[in-house]
Amino acid sequence: MPRATRGTQETNFCRIVLQRTGGPTPSRPRSNRSTTPGLASDARYAHAAATTWAPWEASVTIADMHALNADQIAYWNGMGGRKWTDRQERQDVILAPVSELLFARTAVEPGERVIDIGCGCGATTIELARRVGPKGSVVGIDVSVPMLARARERVLPDMPIEFVEADATVYRFPPARTDLLCSRFGVMFFAEPTLSFANMRTALRSGGRLIFACWRAPEENPWMTLPLKEVYKHAPTLPESGPQDPGPFSFANPDRVHGILDQAGFSAITLESVDLLIDLATGRGLDAAVATALEVGPASRALEGQSAESREHAATSIRAALALFQQGQAVPLAAAIWIVRANNR
Ligand SMILES: C[S@@+](CC[C@H](N)C(=O)[O-])C[C@H]1O[C@@H](n2cnc3c(N)ncnc32)[C@H](O)[C@@H]1O
Repeated sequence: MPRATRGTQETNFCRIVLQRTGGPTPSRPRSNRSTTPGLASDARYAHAAATTWAPWEASVTIADMHALNADQIAYWNGMGGRKWTDRQERQDVILAPVSELLFARTAVEPGERVIDIGCGCGATTIELARRVGPKGSVVGIDVSVPMLARARERVLPDMPIEFVEADATVYRFPPARTDLLCSRFGVMFFAEPTLSFANMRTALRSGGRLIFACWRAPEENPWMTLPLKEVYKHAPTLPESGPQDPGPFSFANPDRVHGILDQAGFSAITLESVDLLIDLATGRGLDAAVATALEVGPASRALEGQSAESREHAATSIRAALALFQQGQAVPLAAAIWIVRANNR
């Protein structure tokens, strides 16, 4: 079972959902509570387990909602969390252009209260804290114990930061006091994103803002798909997943993202398409680029559990493919993201 999250795991869902008559019917079959054994009987979930969150589906509880995220919570506490923690410094370099875009678009002011959703190892949380200054505050929320541990190590004593280990879908945020919800690639992993965003919105004050970055379609992100194609020459393909299944590309469809945020109660929703070049090598040459391709993204997932021989062959193929993009010590490949913005109604 994934480690239970700390703190109160109730939510303001009941109120939100009850306000929305004829709301969305959840899109896939519900798991039952046995998905995360013990969750519903955990004392911290006593209220949640007894509380119906969706009037159109009376048997589903908040504990069920949390259980639906169990696979992702397990992944980010297992292999995924380990890889990102091991590579924290290099990931921060690779993804720095995305943070810069987010901060350029949000104009974070001194004194503001901010929540960083799916904060991971804390790079954006720390930068946000620097921008809000001592009179502001930043809460980083994440389900990954190892990534949060790394984030906590990086915080200086005077930084106005709190890290919370919790599922953003069901965490009871202090209501209506946050100015900005922000996320760099931390919001594509929810089983029922409309409900997750409705819960997160309860944290925002009236007129508060939301901004996040998410990936566009796989075919527009060769920095992830090119290594995967090479891996598939030597390893079985990953289990097929639907375009809406939780994962890096689940927010690729702009209409879907717009619909999710609209139904979750946001207004002034905009998606800005941004093209980037991602240097897989972080300026350290072809070997570093191959290591990145093997350690993160779908190629790394396809290689999980494969033999040393398969991994070696995959590395050779990836190396040959990436060599075509090498420019000095850099190996830049195209990446495509949405910068999504919205306001609390
Ligand atoms: C791709 S990583 C991005 C991490 C970080 N934002 C960054 O840019 O370095 C996705 C993050 O989302 C977190 N996450 C996934 N599901 C979550 C949930 N239900 N609630 C909170 N965080 C979640 C993961 O643990 C992981 O840290």
